[in-house]
Amino acid sequence: MPGYELMGREELAEIQDVFDHGAVLFRHGFDALRQGRYKVKDFEAAMAARLGVPHALAVSSGTAALRVALAGLGLGAGDEVITQAFTFVATVEAIIESRATPVCAEVDATLNMDPVDLARRITPRTKAVIVVHMLGTPARLPEIQALCDAHGLALIEDTAWGLGGALHGRPLGTWGAAGTLSFDFAKTLTTGEGGMVVCRDPDVWARCAAWHDHGHENNPALPRWEDSRSSSGFNFRMGELAGAVGLAQLRKLDGIVGAQRAHRDRLWAAIADLPGVSARAVPAGAYETADALVFFVPDADAARRSRAALLAHGLATKILPEATRWHFAGTWTHMPELVRAHGGDLRAAFPQSSRWLARAVAMPVGVSLADDAPQRARAALSEALALDLPAAA
Ligand SMILES: Cc1ncc(COP(=O)(O)O)c(C=O)c1O
Repeated sequence: MPGYELMGREELAEIQDVFDHGAVLFRHGFDALRQGRYKVKDFEAAMAARLGVPHALAVSSGTAALRVALAGLGLGAGDEVITQAFTFVATVEAIIESRATPVCAEVDATLNMDPVDLARRITPRTKAVIVVHMLGTPARLPEIQALCDAHGLALIEDTAWGLGGALHGRPLGTWGAAGTLSFDFAKTLTTGEGGMVVCRDPDVWARCAAWHDHGHENNPALPRWEDSRSSSGFNFRMGELAGAVGLAQLRKLDGIVGAQRAHRDRLWAAIADLPGVSARAVPAGAYETADALVFFVPDADAARRSRAALLAHGLATKILPEATRWHFAGTWTHMPELVRAHGGDLRAAFPQSSRWLARAVAMPVGVSLADDAPQRARAALSEALALDLPAAA
């Protein structure tokens, strides 16, 4: 889970550096006052280097990153954008905000986008796909990318949960036309609120950069008040304090993901043999961020009992099974655009996703794990699944 567990002196030192050098909290300008301190720009450069892409643009949230990426790729009214039925509302909200039509594809046993269902939902109006690496497990990117290439669709990776993960050695977020990151307080790295768009194409980056800043092109030959512009835009800028925190957090990324993976493995080793427990499917070649340990139990009742038993043993669940209301498109009857796109009945629109999600359980995994957490997880699930088993070694 998250960078907030490691929030400390390093973040404070980066913030202090801003205050010791002019306290300029705006990402642009005030060059004499700030004495060379550009934390947002440095954070962008460090992230681009970490992910091996030429361009990164810091923004005010992961939701803003999605909105800005859609703008940068020129998506809008009349375009259909397909995402997946298991994601956070933000993914669909960004499509609606862009005035494009949101369509959701089913998820499969990976709990990420099912490429077979994606293929079925592509129409002549489809212009882009937003794939989501839910809870840190890579989506089936090779199949999805092949479909996008075959149909000329822009691939966007919502990497809110996937930063630090990879597939076949290639970092998540860098497979498609753009990747988006979130640094909200629950994510692997946090700046409180914040996000980023990463991409390879300099023109996409330039359009994103302008659009997130009222259309400003930041023409170096002109003062900001006379700046050139070619599009409208909005304000989704990141401020310098968030950039400072992000710089310090990014240095901790490998340590966070390494710890999570080790803890996820310990938890899984303690419960993997329990009858009725089965693993979430993971694509070959995946390097997961292990933000959560996700597994299936026999049915929805067992999932609810598992959550109750885990809580009773001082442990927790994360999103599954308790928070599908915010993460499953089948419940988003408050979004008329989505309801319309799916023929007026969202509950019937995603039977396959419904089935997988109903019996899924996700346990949060953090940078620290109590020594006895694996045994407690085993005891809790044995109770929930009414098993009479020996304790884990
Ligand atoms: C899959 C996904 N996309 C986008 C977001 C939005 O990120 P933010 O909270 O930074 O706006 C989230 C946040 O939880 C998310 O889970």
